[in-house]
Amino acid sequence: LKILFVVSECVPFSKTGGLADVAGALPIALAAAGHDVRVVMPAYRVAKRYLARQIALAEQRPAGSEAVAAPAVAAAAAGNGLAASAADAVPSADAAPAADAVPAADAVPAADAAPVADAARGEDGEPPAERFVPHRLPLSLGVPLGGGEAWTAVWETRLDPGTPGAPAPRVYLLEHDVLYDRDGIYGDPHGEFGDNLARYALLSRGALQLCHALEFWPDIVHVHDWQSALVPLYLNVLEHRSPLARAASVLTIHNLGYQGWFNKGQLPTTGLGWDQFHRFCLEAYDSINLLKGGIYNATLVSTVSPRYAQEIQTWEGGEGLDGVLRDRGTDVIGILNGIDDSIWNPATDPHIAAPFSAEDLGNKRLCKAALQREMGLEERPDVPLLGLISRLATQKGIDILAGALDHILSLDVQLIVLGSGERWAEDLFSRISGASDRFRVYVGMNEGLAHRIEAGADLFLMPSRYEPCGLNQMYSQRYGTLPVVRAVGGLDDTVENNVTGFKFEEMSSSALGNTVAWAVHLYRADPAYFRSMQLRAMKKNFGWAQAARQYEALYRLAIARRTGRPF
Ligand code: ADP
Ligand code: GLC
Repeated sequence: LKILFVVSECVPFSKTGGLADVAGALPIALAAAGHDVRVVMPAYRVAKRYLARQIALAEQRPAGSEAVAAPAVAAAAAGNGLAASAADAVPSADAAPAADAVPAADAVPAADAAPVADAARGEDGEPPAERFVPHRLPLSLGVPLGGGEAWTAVWETRLDPGTPGAPAPRVYLLEHDVLYDRDGIYGDPHGEFGDNLARYALLSRGALQLCHALEFWPDIVHVHDWQSALVPLYLNVLEHRSPLARAASVLTIHNLGYQGWFNKGQLPTTGLGWDQFHRFCLEAYDSINLLKGGIYNATLVSTVSPRYAQEIQTWEGGEGLDGVLRDRGTDVIGILNGIDDSIWNPATDPHIAAPFSAEDLGNKRLCKAALQREMGLEERPDVPLLGLISRLATQKGIDILAGALDHILSLDVQLIVLGSGERWAEDLFSRISGASDRFRVYVGMNEGLAHRIEAGADLFLMPSRYEPCGLNQMYSQRYGTLPVVRAVGGLDDTVENNVTGFKFEEMSSSALGNTVAWAVHLYRADPAYFRSMQLRAMKKNFGWAQAARQYEALYRLAIARRTGRPF
């Protein structure tokens, strides 16, 4: 199949959360299954920095004045490839603005665009990903936006499949500096960007313009969340007589909590007419709701766990769109995310103190000691070490954690929180961190520390209010760090109570505190059983291959719907 992904964030180019992990891994799994997958995303400032590093790497020179460039280049030169160099470089919307070191695209020497030497080509005649030098395509898209046209350049590069010889999906980054060259992905410390409708209309429309420019006619256009939810509308409304008319669309909802609300006065920005502004399309409460428009227009709708697919069709979990989702009935399908085994694998993880595996857990102790040292905690092998890595948002249940902190810390445990987000939570955790010898917080994004917490902790907390899928509970199991989760969404689907982790139902500090107390008791009272749980968790298969097979079936169903061909 020919598959086009249109997505607002993608590892290793940009990331605010799990969507980026999925966008960076699922295309690779689909390509491994033989499909032609291409990804379109915005060339944000952070993404252009990443491209600049890739280019510098190919030239084997340090990437200008960038502080992060040197270790990244060194790591890649040491043979870790792009994934390793990307890991520490993954930027965040919240990250402090770094020195603006991206060379203007114009300044990139033409030589960078030249194909690499034949000797470096893979078997299919394509250069292997690590040698694929990002380059600007010799074209410029005139994307209709509002009343005018937004002239957009296009960078092309590849996703690194991590396995030598495996196909590396192409990635196209739409470059429009007025809209994308700024610090932050969806917003900055002052809030959401005011021109997000224009920014994501450009992505959505630009992706389809790019298909025309390249004469790439996908069978499936796979879009994600509100940011690319306009694509199914554009396909239905603007492309029904073009070669894209046969393209079926799948909209995956990664988080119903974010729907893309805009004032209706902005409708002309989308290039769509008022005939699309009605309750079975873009309109909700007299405003624009992009996700709603996408749900009604996509050939099929999916979400990232079977349980969440049910929850969002109820009043409690529907965030106001449960009726819309029920309208689509059995067209709403839940497919669990996988995890990228080349990045999240304790046996090969370059970020952690010592490698370990289910066959030999010994080194996990070294990882724990190193983490305690790194975070300035007392180096005690016997104390249960708890971790949490999260956007600090209401969704993640940070409020019930705050309420349970006294209880949890009274259990003689250590707790490390890595996260950023809501100010009150950052401030509260920073205060406690300063005053306690058992609690530490790191405010900000830190990919390396995320790996070291997964490796070094004994227990991992995810008290989510709702959780479409969640990735950290899967990373945790992979690293033998038993997750304590609320039994919702993907958490309920991926953790077995008292077998591979611990679950609680009630959204309360006492339910969280009591479940942590039970897990800690088990850790101390029955180490052999705790160990057997760790081993069971580590041996679970969370790879992407199974999800890729399910997506393929979903795509074929969507194509059958769209074209009238039998499934
Ligand atoms: P969500 O997408 O809702 O934030 P997920 O569990 O799907 O939740 O994915 C979150 C991803 O973001 C994981 O890869 C997690 O490790 C990462 N992450 C979240 N906060 C941080 C942080 N402060 N530093 C590094 N990685 C983080
Ligand atoms: C969203 C969800 C998270 C999910 C991720 C990737 O951000 O909050 O649960 O794992 O998307 O699908």
